[in-house]
This record gives sequence, C-alpha cells and structure tokens, in this order.
Amino acid sequence: MRFDLISIFPKYFDALGLSLMGKAVDSGHVDIGIHDLRDWTTDRHRTVDDTPYGGGAGMVMRADVWGRAIDAVLRAEGRRVLAIPTPSGRVLTQQRVRSLIDADQIVFACGRYEGIDARVAEHYGQTDIEVFEYSIGDYVLNGGEAAALVLVEAVARLRDGFMSNPESLVEESFEGNVLEYPAYTRPPVWESLRVPEVLTGGNHAEIAIWRRQRALERTARRRPDLIPTIEPGTLSTLDREVLAAHGWVAGADSKWKRVTIRPARIDEAAALSELAATTFPDACPPEVGPEAQAEHIAQNLNERAVRQWIESDNHRVLVADIEGSLMAYTMIVLYADGEYPDDVPEKHIAPAPTYVSKCYTSADYRGSGLSGAIFEAALVDAVPHSHGTQFVLGTNRANRRARDFYRRHGFKKSGRRVFWVGDVRNEDVVMIRPISEIANA
Ligand code: ADE
Repeated sequence: MRFDLISIFPKYFDALGLSLMGKAVDSGHVDIGIHDLRDWTTDRHRTVDDTPYGGGAGMVMRADVWGRAIDAVLRAEGRRVLAIPTPSGRVLTQQRVRSLIDADQIVFACGRYEGIDARVAEHYGQTDIEVFEYSIGDYVLNGGEAAALVLVEAVARLRDGFMSNPESLVEESFEGNVLEYPAYTRPPVWESLRVPEVLTGGNHAEIAIWRRQRALERTARRRPDLIPTIEPGTLSTLDREVLAAHGWVAGADSKWKRVTIRPARIDEAAALSELAATTFPDACPPEVGPEAQAEHIAQNLNERAVRQWIESDNHRVLVADIEGSLMAYTMIVLYADGEYPDDVPEKHIAPAPTYVSKCYTSADYRGSGLSGAIFEAALVDAVPHSHGTQFVLGTNRANRRARDFYRRHGFKKSGRRVFWVGDVRNEDVVMIRPISEIANA
C-alpha cells in the first residue's frame, strides 16, 4: 500500500519514521511519499492560496496548485483514494477506516487556512478516483496534517504484517462497536488500588466473562451512541443482561430501547396488576388449566393486592419501565425473625428469609436480558432491608428455563415444596442464595 502526503509542512510527517510505522516502511509493508505542495506553484513567491470568492475571513488554497500536485503523485492504476482531512467531512470511524484497507494508493491533500477550493474534491469525484473527505472529530485543527497521520496509522495497522500480534486487533475498542475492557499489569497494588481479583485467579472463562461485562458497561456509560449500532443477535444472554442493567434492551422487534428499572409507584398498581395477569400464565405448567389460572389471578394479582405490595414496608416491588410501559416486575417479601412464607417448609431455609415471590417479564422481552437485569437489581435492592441471611424462591419443578435462570443467578436447590394454583397442586423446587454474595460483591 502506498501513501502520498501533500502539505506545505512536509516535515510534519517525520513522525512516520518512528515506531511500528517506521518498521512497516523499512520492511516494505507500506510505502510512503511525502511532498511539498509548493513544488507545484508557478510564481516567485510559491503562492498556494488566495482570498475567498464572496468575501470573508482567511485564505483558500488554490485548486490549480492542488490539481497539479495530485496529478503528479497519482499512480496510473489500482484502487486510488484521494483523502481530504477537513472538519466538515464525515467523522472517521473504525468501519470507515476498514473500508480503505485494500486501497492501492491513498493520496492525502492536507489543507491549511480556510481549506482547499471545493472544486478539487468535486473534480476528482467525477473520475475513477475515490474522494474520501473526513474529520477526526468535532473540533478544529490548524490544518489536515495531524488528521492525515491519524488515518495513515489507523489504516496501516490493519494491514497484514504490520502488527506483530494481530490478535490484539480482534479485542480492541470498536471491533463489534464495543469499547475495550480495562487492562491491568504489575504491581498488583498501586496507590492502594488493587487489581480486580478475578484477573489474578487464573480462571480463563471467568476472566473472559468479566472483561466482556466491563467492556459493555463502559460502552453503555461512555458511548451510549454506539449501543444502537450493535446487532442484538450477536450478543449472548449475559451480554444482554449487562446492557439491560445499564438501560438498554432489544425486544422481539430487535430495536434498542431505553429501560429504567426502579421501585413501583402506587399510581402504577392497575398497570402492574395487568402485567402480572398477562405474565402469570406463561409460567404455568400445562396441568394448570385456564380456570385455575384465572382464579389465582383474580385472588392474588388484582389491583388491590398489588397496591398492598407497593404500599407495604415488608415488600419490595421493582418494575422495568420501557418508554412508559411496564414490561417486567419483581416482588420480594422480607420476612422478620420467626416468620416464614406459608408455602415454604421451614426445614429447607434459614430464619427470616428474603423471599423472591415473583419475577415476571412480558413475552415481548423474553431473551432480551431484561429478566436477569431486573432480578439482580431486585436482589441488590432487597439487601439493606433484609433481616436474615438467605434469598429464597420456589419455582415449578418442570420449568427448566426458570430453574436454569435462577441457577445462573447463583441459586442452588435446597428442597421441595407444594404450591397451589387454584385447586391444582404444583410440585416446586425451593432454591436459595446467601445474601452475603450480593452484599460483598
Ligand atoms: N482539519 C482541521 N480540523 C480537522 C478535523 N477535526 N479533522 C480533520 N481535518 C481537520
């Protein structure tokens, strides 16, 4: 690949002789030509600019001088690109950089002053040369040279033979439109800051998960504009849970939406009762028929019952609000010492359980990570209000999906219970998780 850089300050490009770039030039992986624009002037003063037509401040660089310079350095064939750095170009992205990796020649026209006469880009745009006007960010530099260095380095490092360790290209920021995870090296403690324990534990699967979570978290916090560019289908369940916990979900329509997970408000009792009624049947096994379901919903999930949960001091109710609609909820009951849920045999659990009574998500958001995010949020929310040492829940024995979900969230089976829906007897498993796991995290 050949880069030709034309500027009135050719010495600016001395930096290209350094570091990996210098090595790539020495080894012949890239070939660089640096040219002084003034070599194509025709007057005694070597003039490259003139006053703008129509008036205004500053000077504009002349099309005729640029035309002679560009024609002189352009090769006769191959994929040729004329790159023009300008603050009014489209902003450079890793994707746009990647679009240039198989060019045979990139000629850079580095303007100064108020820029280059617009006819230069227009003229070459009418030929078989690709014109690539780009900005390196929403700020103004004195000229295009720094921006040219940026693009030369960004393109060259993607070419075979440039990096000694091409694997580092795979994980870095912007590949997959996700920022890079934070990196650490020795010493293990610096300024009382300790390297995250998981990185020194040697469990590679755990490390990969931890890094992926941090990368997604960073992206959601620092570059929320990147989230809508991520294809939801490329994400794992865990990835989706992390993004949902940071305010982003893609439902059945695969469109990214903002989600807020927060305590339910009293004025939401009717909406929440409706969500509870529509989601309850999804979790019922086939032997719980429509009548038993309807009876359970009418008795336990009516608006009055839901209002009581929200008002009560020993219940915690969280909802997931997506653009003003409730799409998931959790309900936790905080038992005091000596109290137990009616339907959980005391022998399976420690005193004063924090009982996860409900965790339901609208079918539109199944698999979106929303359930995992609201469930974890509910556990964190309940910790300071808990009286005992255990989270406890019961789930239908046949509901594999639910059991796998709770297992992934740190719950282990501790026994069985019977759960009545209407007059249908259900065999449930009781699962527990130590509260200390959340409190110490
Ligand atoms: N020339 C001056 N400012 C610039 C910017 N932000 N990007 C590219 N070229 C420039």
